[in-house]
Amino acid sequence: MGGPGFTVRNFMSALFFKRFLQNPFRIASIIPSSKALVERVASKIDFSQARTIAEYGPGEGVHSRELANRMSADSQLFLFELDPAFSRDLERQFADDPRVHVINRDATSLAEELARRGIAQCDYILSGIPFSILEIKKKRALLQDTYDALRPGGAFIIYQVTNELRQHATFFDRAESEYCLQNIPPMFITVFQKAQTRNGHARPATSRIPVQRTA
Ligand SMILES: C[S@@+](CC[C@H](N)C(=O)[O-])C[C@H]1O[C@@H](n2cnc3c(N)ncnc32)[C@H](O)[C@@H]1O
Repeated sequence: MGGPGFTVRNFMSALFFKRFLQNPFRIASIIPSSKALVERVASKIDFSQARTIAEYGPGEGVHSRELANRMSADSQLFLFELDPAFSRDLERQFADDPRVHVINRDATSLAEELARRGIAQCDYILSGIPFSILEIKKKRALLQDTYDALRPGGAFIIYQVTNELRQHATFFDRAESEYCLQNIPPMFITVFQKAQTRNGHARPATSRIPVQRTA
C-alpha cells in the first residue's frame, strides 16, 4: 500500500516487494501503507488509554513505528507477522524497544500469546492482513477471537480495499468506516467497537456472542 503522503522509506521498500513476489496472496500488496493512511489509522486510537495494542500483519512495520512513537512508556505492542523475513526485520527495528514484542505466528495465536504473558485483554487490535482472501470459516473465527480478546470499550481497526468485513463482523456493537483516497490502492478504514456495557450492564471480561450467519 502506498500513494500520496508516502515517504521514500515506505514507498521504496525492497523487502516488501521481495516478500510480495515470494507470497503474493499472503502479502497482497506490493508497497506498504502510505503515511496519510498510517496517520489516519493512528488517529483512531486514544493513546492515553491504550496499554495493550496488538497488530496483525505489520509487514515491514510502517504502522508499528507510528504506534510505537505515539504509545506511552508503560504500553505494550504485540506484532503478529506470519512472514519470517518481515519478522526478522521487525525484531531488528525494535531491538531497543522493550515495549514491542514481535511474534512470528498467525494472528489466530493472539489469545494464546496474551495468556502466556498473563495479559487478560487488549485495548486495541489493528489489522493489515488481507481478510478478504481468508476462507470464510477462518475469517469468522478470527473476528470472533478478536472480539473476545478486546476489553469492553476496546476497538478493532482495519484498513482494507473492500468493506466486506462489515457483513461478517456483526457481533461488534458499532462500526464506522471512512475512505482514505491517499493510498494506493485507496482503503476503507473501519473501526469496530466493543461496547462498555450491554443493556446497561457491564460486560463480563470475555463474552462469546454467537456469530450471526449471513444467507
Ligand atoms: C497487505 S500486507 C500489510 C503490511 C503493512 N501492515 C502495511 O500496511 O504496509 C499484509 C501483511 O499481513 C501478513 N499476514 C497475512 N496473513 C497473516 C496472518 N494470518 N497472521 C499474521 N500475519 C499475516 C503478511 O505476511 C503481510 O506482511
